[in-house]
Amino acid sequence: MTDRKLAVVVLAAGQGTRMRSSLPKVLHELAGRPMLAHVLASVMALHPEKVVVVVGPEMERFPDAMLAHDTVVQSERLGTGHAVLAAGPQLAPLLEQEGDMDVLVIYGDTPLIRPETLRKMRKPLEGARALLVGLAFRPQDPARYGRVIVDADGLVERVVEYVDADDTERAISLCNAGILIADGATLYDLAARLDKDNAKGEYYLTDIFALARAAGKPARMIEAAHPSEVLGINDRRELAGAEKVLQERLRASALDAGVTMVDPATVWLSWDTTFDGDVHIEPNVVFGPGVRVERGARIRAFSHLEGVVVGPGAQVGPFARVRPGTRLGEGARVGNFVEIKNSSLGDGAKANHLSYVGDANVGAKANIGAGTITCNYDGFGKHVTEIGAGVFIGSNTALVAPVTVGRGAIIGAGSTITRDVEEDGLAVARGEQQVVAQGAIRFRAKRDNKG
Ligand code: UD1
Ligand code: CA
Repeated sequence: MTDRKLAVVVLAAGQGTRMRSSLPKVLHELAGRPMLAHVLASVMALHPEKVVVVVGPEMERFPDAMLAHDTVVQSERLGTGHAVLAAGPQLAPLLEQEGDMDVLVIYGDTPLIRPETLRKMRKPLEGARALLVGLAFRPQDPARYGRVIVDADGLVERVVEYVDADDTERAISLCNAGILIADGATLYDLAARLDKDNAKGEYYLTDIFALARAAGKPARMIEAAHPSEVLGINDRRELAGAEKVLQERLRASALDAGVTMVDPATVWLSWDTTFDGDVHIEPNVVFGPGVRVERGARIRAFSHLEGVVVGPGAQVGPFARVRPGTRLGEGARVGNFVEIKNSSLGDGAKANHLSYVGDANVGAKANIGAGTITCNYDGFGKHVTEIGAGVFIGSNTALVAPVTVGRGAIIGAGSTITRDVEEDGLAVARGEQQVVAQGAIRFRAKRDNKG
């Protein structure tokens, strides 16, 4: 570990025109959270003293992960170098106070970066082997990335932007990932000298390498072990590509944690999905944010879960939808075409077929019959249904909330329950059955006469 303190500047002000979106680019989501939040999570793993996020003027919806940090609005977007300068006043007091300090500049559109790589980049700054360290990589398709020009000693001569590069430079396979870490004073000293004499007419942060060279300040590049880690996201194709990489990472760590996936490529995870060991997941399952699956639970094919804790040994699906605010107890079962929202199912409780259970507390071992609906919404507000332990709800029952069914009670099939049912009570609320003897014969005769 280095003794040098760290401050971070996250560049997130770009309009991201190539996304063709009304949403700022860095707020587009990967595995269920904005790419900016992914970047911030990696950065926070390094325990910086301060993080300054440079945002554009239209970014009024901040992701939660950003609220803890300082922001500065870059109202005129004059390039990545200009954005770093915009953060200067926020960092100046800290730089003055701390003296030697690393400043990490990271782009909000490079969300797959891992903390290990950032830590590796800090190494050359210890003992001043370099005053500026960039991150490079060799992608399969170097596309529009900046190219890095290194001398025989491994010191960086300059970085040339794609639009400014000639054919020889474009043929270079070593690309600039954008992320850099520098001695803070050196960074701001050099950044102040940037100009916009280039193809885009912008202040390129990348020109700082040539400036360092001219000033005799050593700059180096660390090469990323996995090119996928530094994918920059500029359009929807790249967004989809990054999602794929992230999903593969998330699946791999679930498998390593002892989860069985019959066909991992068809299981979609969120950044925060957590599993205990011996969970079994069938193909085609989607996990939205906020899901925890406990030991030995089984998620069957074509289920969709978000905001739920699945208790040990519980079973969900096939074809189940479990929505936020739900807790399924140990050994509970949610079967096909069942939707559960903001409800708890006690240990061993079952809702196996074709039901909607919303805003309900279902006791242990209760059985919700096929087609049962909790009528939780009256057009104005939501109301709660309480179902006690061991209750048996017959098929096709409507429970009109707010309503309580006491423990051990039985509800006859087809009932519409509007009043509370006492413990161990038996309630039937449906039209009386009428049978007219021979009525069918009379009915058919009448029909035939008409014909
Ligand atoms: C940048 C690098 C390029 C590198 C690539 C890696 C520069 C000049 N070029 O190019 O060498 O290969 O990233 O992905 O830095 N931003 C601001 N304010 C601005 C402009 C940009 O905050 O005025 C932010 C953007 O929101 C974005 C990041 O900076 O998150 C990078 O900007 P972008 O325009 O995407 O740079 P690239 O052309 O991809
Ligand atoms: Ca970019």
